[in-house]
Amino acid sequence: MTSPSERAYKKRNYKAQNHYQISATSNYNTKPIKFHCESNTAMSNDQQQALLILSKQGAFAVTTIPKPLPIPKGELLVKVHAAALDHIDWKIQAYGLLYPEDKYPVIPGLDIAGEVEEVGEGVIHFQKGDRVFFSGDFRNEYSGYQQYTRVPADIVAKIPEKLSYSQAASIPVGIATAAIGLHACRHESSVKDIKGKTALVIGASGSVGQFGATDCIDRAKVPFSTLTRSIINSTSTSSTPVEVVYDAFGSAESQLAGYDTLVKGGALISTGPNQFKDRSEGDGKTFIGVYGNTHVEKNRAFSSQLFENLPLMIERGIIVPNEVEDLEGGLNGIADGLKRLRDGEISGVKLVANPQETKV
Ligand SMILES: NC(=O)c1ccc[n+]([C@@H]2O[C@H](COP(=O)([O-])OP(=O)(O)OC[C@H]3O[C@@H](n4cnc5c(N)ncnc54)[C@H](OP(=O)(O)O)[C@@H]3O)[C@@H](O)[C@H]2O)c1
Repeated sequence: MTSPSERAYKKRNYKAQNHYQISATSNYNTKPIKFHCESNTAMSNDQQQALLILSKQGAFAVTTIPKPLPIPKGELLVKVHAAALDHIDWKIQAYGLLYPEDKYPVIPGLDIAGEVEEVGEGVIHFQKGDRVFFSGDFRNEYSGYQQYTRVPADIVAKIPEKLSYSQAASIPVGIATAAIGLHACRHESSVKDIKGKTALVIGASGSVGQFGATDCIDRAKVPFSTLTRSIINSTSTSSTPVEVVYDAFGSAESQLAGYDTLVKGGALISTGPNQFKDRSEGDGKTFIGVYGNTHVEKNRAFSSQLFENLPLMIERGIIVPNEVEDLEGGLNGIADGLKRLRDGEISGVKLVANPQETKV
């Protein structure tokens, strides 16, 4: 079923012109990333610019659509100043993931920072002008690649003064996915309390995996096939000491290597879907697939606490933002940024767009 506001979105005509393609060379690719460019005219006050995927595995288009109004009770309308790029954004376009056909056109974007424009009824902790950051959702009214978005106020944090909008936008999805996997999913895990346990993080230089590694193994020098042996050698033990693996890469290969690296009864937490269902060998190991979405019921209470504590953790230097690269062209710079992300050209940096810089 679609909500009234979703229907209002869909009723509009998302017409796009001047079609061109960005060629793609990725092995993952089923179709090239396509992009439409609309020649927009002046916008009225209840309109905004947004980046849409027009149809399942269809083209990207920057176009004029209505702002996500009205604001329901308990929510905020936020003017988006920074939207960071995530892998899921290009995967939605390339593979047609997550959204059924009748939900198109789709506005992606989940890592968001901006300024409170308006508060809904019942909101007491935020006011117009507050600088805030949060995770978006897979619903158009709550996503990041648009100039205005909505968010329920219980899963929003104020941006500490020392952070720019771009730095703030680099944090939400990564921290939520890391924390939900390690803490909120504990009841699903064979390892109930991870404190003091030896843990391996695969993909520890990335947005999700960066939160907490102490010793590093260079993936260029140690392939997945020799990972377990390398850990045993480096820890001078006769068998693997690893009780928890957080696989922030999420491929079949990384999951298998992570699984084999675990002690009996250990827990593998992965950002990817379970790709080795037949692997269970009666060894008491558990697999947990993380869904880092802060909006869903299952994660909501934990996410609310997480975002309440996040500003203090940043002030104290416990959580540090990613390095960021600001893209040019506002929303028009995103499709090219997603292509770089998909082609594996980005390492150790978060690409960020400022939707307000979109030329009309
Ligand atoms: N389930 C969820 O809710 C959820 C949420 C967020 C993200 N994710 C998924 O989690 C994955 C990581 O996201 P992210 O935002 O952290 O991405 P990211 O910032 O690009 O980091 C990717 C990490 O994987 C490493 N890596 C890249 N290619 C590799 C390879 N061939 N073998 C081993 N490691 C490799 C990278 O190392 P280098 O820097 O050396 O390249 C980096 O440490 C993505 O697939 C994303 O879609 C899932």
